[in-house]
Amino acid sequence: MSSSDERHDHAADANTSGESAVSRRKFLKGTGVALTIPLVAGGEKIVKAAGADVKIYGPNKTEITLTVNGSPKKVSVEPRATLLDTLRNDLDTTGAKRVCDRATCGACTMIIDGKPVYGCTVLAIEAQGRKIETVESLAKGDALHPVQQAFWDNDAQQCGFCTPGFVMACKALLDKHPSPTEEQIEMGVGGNLCRCGTYHGIKGAIAQASAALKKGPAKMTRGGKSNG
Ligand code: FES
Ligand code: FES
Repeated sequence: MSSSDERHDHAADANTSGESAVSRRKFLKGTGVALTIPLVAGGEKIVKAAGADVKIYGPNKTEITLTVNGSPKKVSVEPRATLLDTLRNDLDTTGAKRVCDRATCGACTMIIDGKPVYGCTVLAIEAQGRKIETVESLAKGDALHPVQQAFWDNDAQQCGFCTPGFVMACKALLDKHPSPTEEQIEMGVGGNLCRCGTYHGIKGAIAQASAALKKGPAKMTRGGKSNG
């Protein structure tokens, strides 16, 4: 639609006296009734939108199941709750950090269906049926994941607030590009910020983790250098 069409619609919307004025607002009001009458099927409210059945949640809390680090978790959430807040406040999974809460810092990065995602921008109800991985899934007992070990070995953290998000972004990067180029590294971790300026260490960590992952499993320990 051209800007002149939009101006025309706004003018028609503003015309409340003319009987014959057909505005976009009036059109939507008319068709909206047909689109939004909820059908109740098996206790669920369903609406038709773009030809598909869409389940309506809320306004009260609703019970959903999330698959977090391989385990199904039942949780009761308001439809407006973000995945990040639900994990942190209701599921005791606090690795992902809430810093900006507006998709700018990356501290809340987690992996959903293999892709790095800001948990503060995803609604919990949207994450149903998807595979959610947080930093808690990486270490196996005392054995750190090679990316975690590389952060440790390269002193790639100071206050640590950004670190879980960076670790998950680096894991997703190396899962996709085992030998990342400079450009792929920039793309892979460019959405994460470190206010302490540990970027040099993080670059070293990516190089070490890339080499370690290609080499295969090595014995990694919390608090010690890797032997791999
Ligand atoms: S807390 Fe989600 S991007 Fe900053
Ligand atoms: S280590 Fe402090 S923000 Fe990155």
